Amino acid sequence: MNLNTLFFILKPFSSPLILSHIVLFYLIATNISCSVDPKFDACPSKTCGNQNISYPFYIQGIQEPFCGYPGFGISCDPSGFPILNLSNTQYIIHQIFYQNKTLRVSNLAFSNPPPNTTKPCLPRTQNLTTGNLFSVAPNQKGVILFYGCDLSSSLEEHRVGCYAEKESSSVVALYEEDKNIRSVTENCTGEGVATTTVADGIGGIRESLRKGLLLTWTASDCNTCTSTGGRCGFDLDPRVYAFRCFCTDRVHSAKCGLDDPGYSLFINLFTFQLYESILLPTYLHIIV
Ligand SMILES: *[C@@H]1O[C@H](CO)[C@@H](O)[C@H](O)[C@H]1NC(C)=O
Ligand SMILES: *[C@@H]1O[C@H](CO)[C@@H](O)[C@H](O)[C@H]1NC(C)=O
Ligand SMILES: *[C@@H]1O[C@H](CO)[C@@H](O)[C@H](O)[C@H]1NC(C)=O
Ligand SMILES: *[C@@H]1O[C@H](CO)[C@@H](O)[C@H](O)[C@H]1NC(C)=O
Ligand SMILES: *[C@@H]1O[C@H](CO)[C@@H](O)[C@H](O)[C@H]1NC(C)=O
Ligand SMILES: *[C@@H]1O[C@H](CO)[C@@H](O)[C@H](O)[C@H]1NC(C)=O
Repeated sequence: MNLNTLFFILKPFSSPLILSHIVLFYLIATNISCSVDPKFDACPSKTCGNQNISYPFYIQGIQEPFCGYPGFGISCDPSGFPILNLSNTQYIIHQIFYQNKTLRVSNLAFSNPPPNTTKPCLPRTQNLTTGNLFSVAPNQKGVILFYGCDLSSSLEEHRVGCYAEKESSSVVALYEEDKNIRSVTENCTGEGVATTTVADGIGGIRESLRKGLLLTWTASDCNTCTSTGGRCGFDLDPRVYAFRCFCTDRVHSAKCGLDDPGYSLFINLFTFQLYESILLPTYLHIIV
């Protein structure tokens, strides 16, 4: 072919506009195929103390809220305890069993010794209220706590500690079926406070309070997402406000892979628009 023909073939590519189209398309294409989705990147599990924290939990200020489920924000105490707030009461998270959506927590006030506190006496607590997201797991024992008690030594085994508001008096714990409850009530101030503890029968009631109780949680299941290589999270946008599975390629509605009809339609449309807006004009430029 002669020089004229060659010039005719290459001429379109010499146009800066077309070159920029080609470069832009190249950049977008490599961006789609090579980089990992930023939400996937943002949500690896983190450790707090010896616990792995991942969906539905997220550590406030350390993990993005979209890495967890709404209401499952926890804090990581400087001394390395994950802390869950339940109705204004702080609970230490001792163990999280992700596979059956269970966790063991204990009221921070009853941890023994309380992490980094110099005050050994116990403040009055509130009845255990779990809210909608958590519920008390079955097969545990109800406990009633009494504050400001002035007791005979026969109840020494039920004594949990001194009472912060009147240090010469005691805090006493009894299982709810204990026949001593009536007489104890008379020697304490205020009404009893209800809580629950694991019922493994090992150690006394003090030890049971320290071990705490098992809670189960309610949040969209994560197994399908993680088993396909994704990381679970939540789209907090009020128009979506739903569970999401963050995969290396993009955000999916339930799991990673191709069979995700809603999103692949979206991506197909997106690709088509890309084709229409970038490739088509480029071809047209070349042809004309
Ligand atoms: C936390 O996760 C890592 C990696 O998945 C694992 O190796 C480690 O055993 C886990 N630790 C606990 C306490 O579950
Ligand atoms: C829990 O409550 C404590 C004190 O009331 C507060 O400092 C902390 O930020 C709360 N943590 C979360 C995760 O809400
Ligand atoms: C709590 O005590 C541990 C061990 O003594 C120490 O490393 C940590 O810095 C303390 N945390 C606070 C908040 O004082
Ligand atoms: C979940 O699994 C743990 C560990 O196997 C177990 O201790 C706990 O009782 C289970 N939770 C429920 C609700 O059964
Ligand atoms: C309650 O107090 C009275 C008087 O101090 C004492 O005699 C009694 O043993 C106490 N009752 C119990 C259950 O400790
Ligand atoms: C706490 O629980 C006890 C025992 O179930 C109950 O009698 C009491 O009314 C409850 N107190 C509050 C403030 O809900």
